[in-house]
Amino acid sequence: MKIAIDGTAASGKGTLAKGLAKKLGYDYLDTGLLYRRLALDIYKKGLTKFNLINERGIISNANINMLADITLNLTLPLSDHPDLRKQEISHLSAVIASIPEIREILFKKQRMFANKPPSKAGVILDGRDIGSVILPEAKIKFFIDAKPEIRAKRRYAELKGLSAEVQEETILDDLIKRDKADRTRHVAPLKQVPDAFFIDSSALNADEVLQIALNYING
Ligand code: DC
Repeated sequence: MKIAIDGTAASGKGTLAKGLAKKLGYDYLDTGLLYRRLALDIYKKGLTKFNLINERGIISNANINMLADITLNLTLPLSDHPDLRKQEISHLSAVIASIPEIREILFKKQRMFANKPPSKAGVILDGRDIGSVILPEAKIKFFIDAKPEIRAKRRYAELKGLSAEVQEETILDDLIKRDKADRTRHVAPLKQVPDAFFIDSSALNADEVLQIALNYING
């Protein structure tokens, strides 16, 4: 079985995906990590969101080709690392996520993983375009959201261990900007598909969200 989870940044979709994967014995793929890994790789080469895009808002063919080469070499699933969660990497990953050529390569890798999960039991993917583009055939789809202020608090708690410089207001501002970029980009924008079950996690803890999701799955 395939389970698709989409939602806004820091809405709790990753926590839900991990909880469900553990409960059901399924493989889990955090697809945001793919964009973050690419962002970290090019950040280490000296590129930031400011010099990846030119004054006309365009990414050069040379940069797209360089990113495509790195993307082709990614093997799934990737492991998480605190550096992948840093704010500059979040910014850069949102820019990379708007490049159709990169999404096309990642589309194939994600589908391959979902069609042949290592456990053979089932698979859970979370991201922005899972229910709409990557796994439109998934029988179970969730869309998770929460009030921006609550999401900023959660992200702040996560990030403050990584960097002394983070501020909750900056995080809130960043989340709002990133949601807007994710929802309005031309290719595979974040949206709730009609057959997704909506969960507002604003007033819920991780166990409560997991229980609601399990109740839905068990019908
Ligand atoms: O879920 P996340 O915050 O780790 O995602 C990082 C960025 O990658 C975010 O700006 C949205 C983008 N993304 C995407 O466009 N499609 C996905 N399936 C997953 C993430």
